[in-house]
Amino acid sequence: MPRLIAPGSLRRIGTFFSDSGYTREALRDTLELSELPWRKLRNLHFLLHKTQEATALHQLARIFYLGQPADEALLRQCIPGAIFGLMQDAEMLEVKGGVAKPACMVAPLENLVLVSDQITNMEVELLPDLVLLPNPTTLTVSRFMLRKRGANVFDLGTGCGPLALLLAGSAKHVLGTDINPRAIEFARFNAALNGIENVDFEVGDALAPAEGRQFDLIVANPPFFVSAERQFVFCDSPLELDGFSRMLAREAPKYLLEGGFFQMMCEWVEVKGQRWQDRLDEWFTGNGCDVFVIKGFEFGAAKYAHERLFEANPLHPERDIEIFEQRLAYYRERNVTAVHGGLMAMRRKAGSNWVRIEDIPHPPKECFGDDVVARFAGQDLAAWATDEQLLDWKPALTSRVRLRQELTARDGGWQPTMQRIDLVEGLASSLALEPPVASVVCRLDGSRSVREQAAALAAEAGADAGVAQAEVLRLVRRLGSGGFLELPATG
Ligand SMILES: C[S@@+](CC[C@H](N)C(=O)[O-])C[C@H]1O[C@@H](n2cnc3c(N)ncnc32)[C@H](O)[C@@H]1O
Repeated sequence: MPRLIAPGSLRRIGTFFSDSGYTREALRDTLELSELPWRKLRNLHFLLHKTQEATALHQLARIFYLGQPADEALLRQCIPGAIFGLMQDAEMLEVKGGVAKPACMVAPLENLVLVSDQITNMEVELLPDLVLLPNPTTLTVSRFMLRKRGANVFDLGTGCGPLALLLAGSAKHVLGTDINPRAIEFARFNAALNGIENVDFEVGDALAPAEGRQFDLIVANPPFFVSAERQFVFCDSPLELDGFSRMLAREAPKYLLEGGFFQMMCEWVEVKGQRWQDRLDEWFTGNGCDVFVIKGFEFGAAKYAHERLFEANPLHPERDIEIFEQRLAYYRERNVTAVHGGLMAMRRKAGSNWVRIEDIPHPPKECFGDDVVARFAGQDLAAWATDEQLLDWKPALTSRVRLRQELTARDGGWQPTMQRIDLVEGLASSLALEPPVASVVCRLDGSRSVREQAAALAAEAGADAGVAQAEVLRLVRRLGSGGFLELPATG
């Protein structure tokens, strides 16, 4: 694995990657390297074809992204001698007999370049302490997390440091920890590679390194796979079933300042005789937080065992049936019928707390931390604002709201059979509307109070004033908690 050399020298290497245009967009969109070379995909010929030019970008991508050996002479043509020498000093590549081989993988993420183990080695040997590149779960958490200016942040299970280093851009200080000492070495290397100084990385188990400290923000992309065996430290839950994620949901808030957030991605099981919501209720009850859950997926036990089979058995496809059966037996013995997954944000708050769960299978592809904060503000409004407070308020729709209508031919004309409003950007939201209140929604422009809106509805629909008022209050609460209204951010 790479060796930590003088930070200034590593920074020069990092800058060379950036100056060569080594970005996620360039690798994925321009060079079309959307997949790595996996034997099972039989795609190596295509990836080599796409990286054949004698340019720094092509050759860096071939060796450090695809993990393929490169011709030393060609590489030296594309990489200045001083940088090539530093890469050798840092043991990022090994040169022998005119061939350069990578000793690590380099992946771009936003404005960072991050060194990790070469993941395709998983097809060659079992590496229980493999340190993973930023992967799809990293990307999702990175978009989900709040980028709070001046915050004190804790990234639990930092791996090669992607979330910690991204957060360092806005935070005052970030602590990144991992139980895997190799991960911490990579993370320190990456801090220097990217010239980031307001981060400390420490080896530590779960929340132990946070003892005696409190943070504005804790993030975790923990090992949450519900696995029968603890094979890989990066993904297999170290506690029975979903125990590790449960422990974090219950314990991490103790290390938050009042108003601070804990955000994680995780999975939880559904057991026979219990609703999956009941399991989460038990996680959250008494943890002192308001909780917003973005539920992303749900797999029956067999489908889940199948989906995770590659991680469970990367080397011996001929054992797939046996491993699959072992996993199914493990779930059956523990009455697990399904596994659910998603993102959770918890805000520490004294007093009564709320829990909101939304189904959002496709979270946005851009950062949506501000939308998460807005959902908290909206749910606060729905849960805590009194009717009197709301009646005097002049709500306004966000500009991202659209009405969707379905019309059915009836009685010689088109009759509306479905009306919904959707948020068309950011974190998705959708709300079904009854025709009379739909007309109220389009008038929410900040110029009239809820009381005035209710009076207008009563007059328009010839309805009782009290009934109209109750309907509009209910509507405003639902719109607020669904993210449809302009609200002051609280986070
Ligand atoms: C899914 S990886 C996430 C890595 C990185 N944060 C990211 O988002 O790409 C989970 C990380 O948690 C670490 N980990 C596993 N068990 C841990 C524990 N008990 N305490 C701290 N870290 C742990 C693993 O070594 C691994 O780096």
